[in-house]
Amino acid sequence: MPSTVKIAPSILSADFARLGEEVRAIDSAGCDYVHIDVMDGHFVPNLTFGPCVIRAIRPYTNKPFDVHLMIDPAQPSLSEYAAAGADIITVHAEADTHLDRSLQMIRALGKKAGVSLNPATPETVIEHVLDRLDLVLVMSINPGFGGQSFIPAQLEKIRRVRRMIGDRPIELEVDGGVNAKTAPAVIAAGANVLVAGSAVFQDDDYVETINALRP
Ligand code: DX5
Ligand code: ZN
Repeated sequence: MPSTVKIAPSILSADFARLGEEVRAIDSAGCDYVHIDVMDGHFVPNLTFGPCVIRAIRPYTNKPFDVHLMIDPAQPSLSEYAAAGADIITVHAEADTHLDRSLQMIRALGKKAGVSLNPATPETVIEHVLDRLDLVLVMSINPGFGGQSFIPAQLEKIRRVRRMIGDRPIELEVDGGVNAKTAPAVIAAGANVLVAGSAVFQDDDYVETINALRP
């Protein structure tokens, strides 16, 4: 099990009217990544924001932007997300048709490449692209909204992905329903990056809400 756990607050639960200040606040509170949920109203039943908003908040922190693309197709706009300031670009295995090509495109843009798996998607889809990956994002809710309950069956998938990764330098991130109660099991299963939206933004004291997730 990795010794350090990173916290990636999801700004989906931030105050959108003050997004820049919210990003600055989670940075000062000690977050490791800024998790940015891009939704297209088609791949998921919700619509958020795109490259313009990412570019607008980029000056508010130097922390890595962890961009979670819940859009289908993703390939036509990968370069726009790279140009807007993404550091990690994660596509869904269920989107587009050619996952291997998406991952090659992201790395060719000079960014870290991630793949996300919906709860019903088996981890075997990443078996033949492991060497193109910098991050695997296991969804522990059905994507689209914050504030949903953690799906316990995903713990077994997290354990399996951790075994598949072996000693490769690939991060294992978990997203959905992660809070102070569920985090210990997620970490014990092998995750090293925790995404948390409602758990971080539920209270104004982000130092406290972020630290509550750390082991
Ligand atoms: C949902 C997003 C998540 C969301 C998590 O589709 O991918 O990042 O913000 O929200 P919580 O932590 O509240 O479950
Ligand atoms: Zn997310």
